[in-house]
Amino acid sequence: MSAPPSTAPAKRSPYRPDLLAGYTALVTGGGTGMGRAMALAFADHGADVVVASRKKEHLDPVAEEIRKRGRRALAVPVDVRDFARVEALRDEIEREFGALDILVNNAAGNFLAPVSDLSPNGWNAVVNIVLTGTFHVSKAMLPLLEKRAGRASVTNIIATYAYAAAPLVAHSGAAKAGVLNLTRSLALEWAHRGIRVNAIAPGPVDTEGASSHLFPTPEIKDRILSTVPLSRFAEADEIAHAAVYLASDAASYVTGDCLIIDGGLSWSTRFLGE
Ligand code: COA
Repeated sequence: MSAPPSTAPAKRSPYRPDLLAGYTALVTGGGTGMGRAMALAFADHGADVVVASRKKEHLDPVAEEIRKRGRRALAVPVDVRDFARVEALRDEIEREFGALDILVNNAAGNFLAPVSDLSPNGWNAVVNIVLTGTFHVSKAMLPLLEKRAGRASVTNIIATYAYAAAPLVAHSGAAKAGVLNLTRSLALEWAHRGIRVNAIAPGPVDTEGASSHLFPTPEIKDRILSTVPLSRFAEADEIAHAAVYLASDAASYVTGDCLIIDGGLSWSTRFLGE
């Protein structure tokens, strides 16, 4: 019997350097992991990029990489839980770029803890970053997105467990399920303003943050892998490609949707009845 075909990610470059030329993007949580990959992918496709998160030391190297690609970059330390700081970020983007075409709400916090061990403060930390933070940034950026009506878009990063149950990450699951509903509500509220609003639900992605917070041992990693039909974790770039698609004219009729990128995991677990 011949060996099964490889499911490895495509090595050929899917980049079109003019796809997002003249666009300005904001990626929250843009200093590491998926956020960093999305920020660089937007730059690869021609966009100027603002990265914002709590840690400037994570943001500055990403901004440098964006500039090396010939794009303008801004790195702004912001905690998305603080609405006044988010409004200050909006004003800074307006001063530097005038308007915003692409918003990706990617900032998140997560850790493994059963509800029995979770303090109200722990719950609030995650819900305030993920759900309230998405509300804060979307609301604050609305005037800048409206200036690019017709091509502006918001993409919210959730997770496949937002659809089902999320034992050990109930705080994150509840928050991300809230973001999914907010995505659909904003899609309806903002359609007439010329702004599309979508979500991406990644399955397990092999980033440093996810590995240390969510699959910290080889046993947990193997257990997750055994349920993924494509038999591997996603690479951050594979999520970034979807973010580029949703932000581009190629997705001009797509709003209120959620793109699941999980190597088939959602269907295999339902099929197995897990
Ligand atoms: N298990 C249980 N509770 C935890 C925890 C864990 N692993 N990590 C944090 N908490 C609780 C804290 O104990 C605290 O509650 P308490 O005051 O009742 O003790 C509460 O969460 C806030 O923690 P703190 O560290 O002060 O908050 P923060 O705002 O600085 O951090 C977090 C936010 C909690 C989300 C933190 O995990 C974080 O910053 N993570 C890095 C980013 C990240 O998670 N990325 C996602 C990778 S998938």
